[in-house]
Amino acid sequence: MSLELEIVRSVPRNADAIGVPVATEGAVPRSLGMSRAALAANGFEGKAGQTLVLPSAAGPAHIALGIGKAGELSVNVLRNAAAAFVRAAGARANLATSLADLEGVEARAAAQAVTEGVILANYRYVGLKNDKTGSSVKSLALLVGAPRAAAARTGADRGVVIADAVCVARELINTPPAYLTARKLADAAVAMAATVGLGVEVFNRDQLAAMGCGGIVGVNAGSTEPPRMVRLTYTPKNPTGHVVLVGKGVTYDSGGISLKPNDASHALMKMDMSGAAAVLATMSTLKALKCKAAVTGYLMCTDNMPSGSALKLGDVLTMRNGKTVEIHNTDAEGRLILADGLSLAAESKPDAIVDIATLTGAVIAALGEKMAGVVGNNQAWVDQVRAAGARADEPTWQLPLAREYRKLLDSNVADMRNIGGPYAGTITSSLFLDEFTAAVPWAHIDMSGTMKVDGNDGWLAKGATAYGTRLLIDLVTNFSPLK
Ligand code: BES
Ligand code: ZN
Ligand code: MN
Repeated sequence: MSLELEIVRSVPRNADAIGVPVATEGAVPRSLGMSRAALAANGFEGKAGQTLVLPSAAGPAHIALGIGKAGELSVNVLRNAAAAFVRAAGARANLATSLADLEGVEARAAAQAVTEGVILANYRYVGLKNDKTGSSVKSLALLVGAPRAAAARTGADRGVVIADAVCVARELINTPPAYLTARKLADAAVAMAATVGLGVEVFNRDQLAAMGCGGIVGVNAGSTEPPRMVRLTYTPKNPTGHVVLVGKGVTYDSGGISLKPNDASHALMKMDMSGAAAVLATMSTLKALKCKAAVTGYLMCTDNMPSGSALKLGDVLTMRNGKTVEIHNTDAEGRLILADGLSLAAESKPDAIVDIATLTGAVIAALGEKMAGVVGNNQAWVDQVRAAGARADEPTWQLPLAREYRKLLDSNVADMRNIGGPYAGTITSSLFLDEFTAAVPWAHIDMSGTMKVDGNDGWLAKGATAYGTRLLIDLVTNFSPLK
């Protein structure tokens, strides 16, 4: 466990900082020893995310935690208030707060959100620094009245499972490309599967070629590192349905022969396996969370490199489902590897498929860095994905699967080409993916914009976000088969 978590009735003796929730209106808790006017004079109004540290010479510091309007309290506000608590607490190691026992949000959900906020804001990537001083919080005590203690415990336990999984994904995504090759990513998945009790199969290059997975084999052609496909399976007794998750696992995207320009964004392309990391992290939680649906996860792992053996423009690949693709840009590689993953997913005739990928720069132009694009072939399924994103505070916005643009993918020599025109790149990439879904309900999450943050922001810690992990966990654990 990343953090010692206790449900308590009074502040533990070792507490270094006590978080005290304060709304914008109403009484100020007496434990702060400050009037509303005195707080306001120090710039603290109780707005969501605001903090004010009140040190004490003898005992623990009290930290006022803004939670906004009491009537508008939500799990998303609490998660961020908990994150703000961690940041305001600085080097203090042992935190206590009553955030998990507030009116308006049920104790279980509140405890989960607060636990998530603390663990996620406390995360830092220090893997390759000699100075490993990073995260400072060691313990969190949630102050809860006896009647709600059991519910809070359940919620906090779920919060630990989920937030730890997100941190595992962030760690993988932040890892430099030489340290996280496709083989290493597959090794991490195998180790994870053994720890949490998932089924796992790993497919190497020859196996993928024999299976007809021309997309992933083709993208890998220029590399000295072999590809890997990982299939993870979670099968509960009497499953309520079957969902397949497919993640883009490009461990480094140079663009291939269509080499990317030499700018700062190039170094971010170690994060092009964010989708696969989110799928792996999601799968790792399902047994602990007692997910009722069966879930299969595909991690499509390779890098995308230029070399004498690399994929060339004008080459034609035959994908797992038999469709042929003429390559017009080797930097549109994500859709090629997803095509094989989606084909395999559809073959198993699941109730629904989701893929998640850092697929297009176009989605950043369209939606910016604060929400992912969602496109799908089934509105009810897209709605479930978007609702999960809203609950997880991983926002999404839907773009249309506009069939009128399908002709932009027409090829003179193959069934389609791998890029459309200069506009609507997220839509044309989705139309490409749709060719491999065999009409199974499917939603595509394009998370290029949300894959990283440049600085700490609420529960997001600078660097990789592992966006989609909590969305997917929420989605599959609340899955209801579509009519
Ligand atoms: N991995 C990139 C997309 C990306 C860009 C993710 C920036 C995160 C930040 C993807 O493989 C890519 O290169 N897409 C191309 C597609 C184009 C060639 C049709 C793009 O968006 O430019
Ligand atoms: Zn890419
Ligand atoms: Mn690319």
